[in-house]
Amino acid sequence: MCGIVGYVGRQKAAPILIEGLKRLEYRGYDSAGLAVLQGPRIEVVKKTGRVDVLAKAAAPRRLAGATGIGHTRWATHGGVTEANAHPHLSSDGSFALVHNGVIENHAAIRRFLAAKGYTFASETDTEALVNLIAYHHAKEPEPAPDTGKSRFLESVRRALMHVEGAYGIAVLCAACPGEIVAARKASPLVLGVGDREHLLASDVAALASRTQNVVYLKDGELLHLTPGRFAIITQDEEDVPPVVDRITWDTAGAELGDHRHFMEKEIFEQPAALENAMRGRFSEDGSTANFGGLNLTPAELRQVGRLVLLGCGTAWHACLVAEHLVERFARLPVEVDYASEFRYRNTPLDRDTLFFVMSQSGETIDTLGALREARRKGFKVLAINNTVGSSIAREADGGIYQHVGPEIGVASTKAFTSQLLLGAIIALYIARMRDMSYNDGLEYVKALKAAPGLVRRVLAQAPRIREIARRHAHYKDMLFLGRLSLFPIALEGALKLKEISYIHAEGYPAAEMKHGPIALVSPECPAVFFAPKGEIFNKLVSSIQEIKARRGRTIVITTEGCELPPGVADELIHLPDCHEAVLPIVATIPVQLLSYYIAVELGCDVDKPRNLAKSVTVE
Ligand code: F6R
Repeated sequence: MCGIVGYVGRQKAAPILIEGLKRLEYRGYDSAGLAVLQGPRIEVVKKTGRVDVLAKAAAPRRLAGATGIGHTRWATHGGVTEANAHPHLSSDGSFALVHNGVIENHAAIRRFLAAKGYTFASETDTEALVNLIAYHHAKEPEPAPDTGKSRFLESVRRALMHVEGAYGIAVLCAACPGEIVAARKASPLVLGVGDREHLLASDVAALASRTQNVVYLKDGELLHLTPGRFAIITQDEEDVPPVVDRITWDTAGAELGDHRHFMEKEIFEQPAALENAMRGRFSEDGSTANFGGLNLTPAELRQVGRLVLLGCGTAWHACLVAEHLVERFARLPVEVDYASEFRYRNTPLDRDTLFFVMSQSGETIDTLGALREARRKGFKVLAINNTVGSSIAREADGGIYQHVGPEIGVASTKAFTSQLLLGAIIALYIARMRDMSYNDGLEYVKALKAAPGLVRRVLAQAPRIREIARRHAHYKDMLFLGRLSLFPIALEGALKLKEISYIHAEGYPAAEMKHGPIALVSPECPAVFFAPKGEIFNKLVSSIQEIKARRGRTIVITTEGCELPPGVADELIHLPDCHEAVLPIVATIPVQLLSYYIAVELGCDVDKPRNLAKSVTVE
């Protein structure tokens, strides 16, 4: 979480930093700040609240400096106050630093520095680091000019040798005009190489309007920037030859257009997003899948005896659906785990296990940690990921990009349905190596290709779902119930509602109701019920009737043409009839819309819900 930016060039830094911070606001929005070198002084402006508040506060300061750093915060250490906002200055004012991550041994560093007379103005872990840099700078002799070494860079390098934890940092030094030093360990950092200017950011989204040429920093690397030059070194002082990547970032994808919120835009983008995610994924004969980046031969994949799927939050729900489809169609055992739990559980694993991690951002630290743990044990880990060049994409043994463009709304929507789609395609791929026939493969592929059109049909019901949302926005609790592949969609519906509208919601397997949660049922706790056509339709109807018998309100999501007994559904939403592999995708749309419209009705900040951040880069 937290977004950091930096600029060194010939333009005024402040507006460029603010523009970059706006693009990174999804990473945290508790406070925002910037620091600009103005002659020999470092000027800092910081405010609690959004980047717009910062922009207003910075405008009258007439900051003309062409070197600066900026930050948008998701609070970890210390409350949401101006004092805790970044950038942080060293106690002598000679260094300013922005930080994404957590310095785990900050208390020990603070104690060490306090004994030497350094003072602290905030409760943050970051302030310990900026003072540690100042401490090392004071001790570091000026290098001889012919060595080409920078005292500033060396001070940061030495300070970081004593730091435990995760960091992406950018540092200004009052005595070093036109210079920035940056470094990363477990928090992302990208360098943008422009025309006699350099930019830094946690994410390419913040650079893409100024340059297409980027260098992704690796863990343990430090970067020294001036307008005309950049150099990368490792913690061990070895020079790193830079690899400049060219990004093809569609900046229009990160614009709101005519929509009121990014979440609305991204919900309605899903037909196109699914088309992009499936493009090129099917074999020419249309009977199986085609994956270029798995880095596994069909023979190697054929040897796999078990899949382990890992993710967090919404991505974990997508893993649960994939589990259902892989086991159902490919008859291959699958285990799903929260990445954060897997990492520390030390699960016994068979040698023929293959891992998949799912992550929209590719930066979720729990998922990255799980990936590293599995690879450390010698397993292959493939990634399903939406962010080209992300840490997970780079560290995985292979993988599949989601190709749905930037997802800006904090609540995941189009990334989720594309993960569902890719899970379904993986199930097909493995199934066709095992028991699935050519003809069943053809039918499966045809069904997946129909998914965007079916999603469009559900989206056409948005006005009706909006009315249902209006009638339900005042409730304080809600249940989401489903079975089989729609149980994870019930979990996802409950998560969407609680994260953007702050209504308490629970997702449950419908048949488990009677083992406890039915005690919650009352006229004050409506239940959203998935009851699609299928073998267990009658059992689902019985479960709904159990709710009705206890005077519960029901919003039933069923398949067109399915007959429900009278009085069972207080509200009814129809899904088009579709293949089992497509059902979870199609069934997701009504619960996304319902949550979205309820949150809008309640006046919630849909794209930036309280306490959340898009990219969770702390444990
Ligand atoms: C919920 C949501 C989160 C993310 C989770 C993992 O709407 O977006 O639950 O799914 O933080 O994020 P990624 O997929 O980036 O690893």
